[in-house]
Amino acid sequence: MIETQFYSVKPTDLNALETIYGGKIVDLIDSLAAIIARRHSGKTCVTASMDSIDFVRPAKSGDLLVLKTAINKVWDTSCEIGVKIFVENQETKARKHLASAYLTFVALDENGRPTPMPKIILKTKEEKRRFREAEDRRKIRLARKTKIRE
Ligand SMILES: CC(C)(COP(=O)(O)OP(=O)(O)OC[C@H]1O[C@@H](n2cnc3c(N)ncnc32)[C@H](O)[C@@H]1OP(=O)(O)O)[C@@H](O)C(=O)NCCC(=O)NCCS
Repeated sequence: MIETQFYSVKPTDLNALETIYGGKIVDLIDSLAAIIARRHSGKTCVTASMDSIDFVRPAKSGDLLVLKTAINKVWDTSCEIGVKIFVENQETKARKHLASAYLTFVALDENGRPTPMPKIILKTKEEKRRFREAEDRRKIRLARKTKIRE
C-alpha cells in the first residue's frame, strides 16, 4: 500500500542557492520511512541501509512536496521501503519527480536484537512488481555489506 504525506518547504530548509538542501531531503526520506516501518512492525526499527539517492530537480521555499512511501518487501527481521518525492504545482496539481531512495529497516526486540516483522499482503500488480524487484536490490546491498565488513 502506498502512503502519501505532504511537506511544505521552509526558508530554513534552503541552501545558498535558495533551494532545498540535500540533507533535508535525506532527513525527510529517513524520518518518513522510519514511521512506516514502526507502524507496520509495531516495534522499534532502525535504518540498516539507505541506497543511493537521486536528486532529480530542486525545490524552493513554499513548494509543496508529496512523499509517497511503500513497503516493498519484508524478509525475516528486515524490510525494504521505497520513498519517492514529487514537487506539486499548487495551481495545476501537476507533480514532478524530485528525489527517490530505497531504505532497509530492521525491527528490534526489547533487547535491541533483530526480531521478525509481519509480512505484507500483495494485492496489486504494482505491489507484486515492487516485491520482485526488491529481492535484486537486497542481493546488491548484502554483497556491499559483506565487502564493508571485510
Ligand atoms: C541493523 C542492525 C540491527 C543489523 O544487525 P546485525 O547484527 O547485522 O543483524 P543480522 O545480521 O541478524 O541482520 C538482521 C537483518 O538485517 C539485515 N541487514 C543487516 N544489515 C543490512 C544492510 N546493511 N543492508 C540491508 N539489510 C541489512 C539482514 O539481512 C537481516 O535481515 P533478515 O532478518 O530480514 O534476513 C545493526 O547493524 C545496527 O544496529 N546498525 C545500526 C543501525 C542504526 O544505528 N541506524 C541509524 C539510526 S536508526
